[in-house]
Amino acid sequence: MLKLGVNIDHVATIREARYRGLGHGEPCPVAAALAAEAAGAHGITAHLREDRRHIQDRDIQRLREQIKTRLNLEMANAPEIVSIALKLKPEIVCLVPERRLEVTTEGGLDVVAAEKALTGTCRKMNDAGIEVSLFVAPDPAQIDASARVGAQFIELHTGKFAEDFYPAASGKRQAEIELQRLIAGAKQAHALGLQVNAGHGLNCENLPALFAVPHLVELNIGHSLVSRAVLVGMGNAVREMLAVMKNYPA
Ligand code: PXP
Repeated sequence: MLKLGVNIDHVATIREARYRGLGHGEPCPVAAALAAEAAGAHGITAHLREDRRHIQDRDIQRLREQIKTRLNLEMANAPEIVSIALKLKPEIVCLVPERRLEVTTEGGLDVVAAEKALTGTCRKMNDAGIEVSLFVAPDPAQIDASARVGAQFIELHTGKFAEDFYPAASGKRQAEIELQRLIAGAKQAHALGLQVNAGHGLNCENLPALFAVPHLVELNIGHSLVSRAVLVGMGNAVREMLAVMKNYPA
């Protein structure tokens, strides 16, 4: 069954818009995570950014203490955050680019350029019992490098697919091209022994098209769920998404 990881960063984005620096305020990302779990989410994802623009250290600590499913900590491969992760012990970390230099042309992590550093971080995480996922574009060289550095998962960057999905942006043909790249990337990763997640820009409208991509284990979805939650509540937003995800071919 295709799993749903709910990214609650933007709950904190709303809170920080009013309460930045105050150490309290609403809405609470931990409450949102618990509501998502109660509605059937399989995991919670949060990104502790070096600039702390949304999720704060206290949020991560409370998520670790209170959620019952899996915590996926999104993070840069930066010494401060690596050391927080090793203490926090999320079930999995997803390494993402935060600085321009870490980004490939398609917007994922440049695993090829950072192979040595990422190999070291993967080893440290795995030694601490933490699985590692790398957020990469569907680029054959990046996927090969992801297997070499010792990651257990890749998360395929679906941002371009999501952008191209709406014809006004760049036309149907573009979306088809990106979909074919995602399909090839998932097959390549699977053949290399990597498990395959996907995320960025996914919503109830574009998911059915994405389901042509094989071998998907988990989707990480944030913005569309938090947006929908503003209108119908987090529980209903998660249930709606899970109902769409049931159609992923087993
Ligand atoms: N996966 C990764 C690695 C991300 O960085 C993000 C955005 O924080 C997401 C998934 C979720 O993207 P969205 O908020 O567009 O659903």
